[in-house]
Amino acid sequence: MSRILITGSTDGLGQLAARQLIEDGHEVVLHARNAQRAGEAMKNLPGAKAVLIADLADMDQTKDLAQQANQYVFNAVIHNAGVYQASAQQLLQVNTLAPYILTALMNRPERLIYLSSGMHLSGHAKWTEHPSYSDTKLQVLMLARILAKEWPEIYANAVDPGWVPTRMGGRGAPDNLQKGYETQVWLATSDEPEALVSGQYFHHQRAAPYNHSADDRAAQQGLLAACAQLTDITLF
Ligand SMILES: NC(=O)c1ccc[n+]([C@@H]2O[C@H](COP(=O)([O-])OP(=O)(O)OC[C@H]3O[C@@H](n4cnc5c(N)ncnc54)[C@H](OP(=O)(O)O)[C@@H]3O)[C@@H](O)[C@H]2O)c1
Repeated sequence: MSRILITGSTDGLGQLAARQLIEDGHEVVLHARNAQRAGEAMKNLPGAKAVLIADLADMDQTKDLAQQANQYVFNAVIHNAGVYQASAQQLLQVNTLAPYILTALMNRPERLIYLSSGMHLSGHAKWTEHPSYSDTKLQVLMLARILAKEWPEIYANAVDPGWVPTRMGGRGAPDNLQKGYETQVWLATSDEPEALVSGQYFHHQRAAPYNHSADDRAAQQGLLAACAQLTDITLF
């Protein structure tokens, strides 16, 4: 049995991954943006262990979430919460800075999983405070690549779930919804050798081609420096 935190588990892929993990006998801690959403999350997934509350668009609340999370020992964290049609400020805060803050302030789990996207392929690696969605999804892949090097004792990977019919993906999304969360569940819990790797970009449980600007050392340093400056938290 593993204990897993999933950010943004009130809906979509986070909620589906949580449901699967609970069914598989794991202990899942949910996360919601506010008390109302937390109540709804627990109603939808009564088998969850608890729900933590923070609006990830708010930096102080995100820092507080790390403290709340540190009451538990997690085997895995799935950094799933994300926004798509949002201002550059919200994209930066929710998609990039929140995973950075939680990664830096939480007790280190054995496995870290970051939700990226196929759209990261058109992202720009050079730091900007006004990122597009694609830029932020490249940034979390970059974070996973950095962590794989810096923290070799843990597994840090990124996932492209495909374009799937959640609230974000829209009803007409063409890809398989179940395959959209299975990879995160597998990376969080499986002891298959293929899941016990680090720094990979997965699509449907296989390493997939990624934007190699994620490995650009200058861009990586730029990302770390900017995140440290904006959050007042250093990662290493
Ligand atoms: N769906 C796709 O086709 C697709 C494709 C590629 C990548 N992804 C990635 O997969 C992840 C999950 O996407 P999804 O399709 O499941 O999206 P979704 O259905 O829109 O769900 C997003 C989740 O994140 C939470 N969230 C968003 N902003 C938040 C905030 N400020 N504070 C706290 N929680 C917040 C939402 O909470 P509320 O319910 O309260 O809003 C919800 O639980 C995202 O990182 C996304 O970028 C999705």
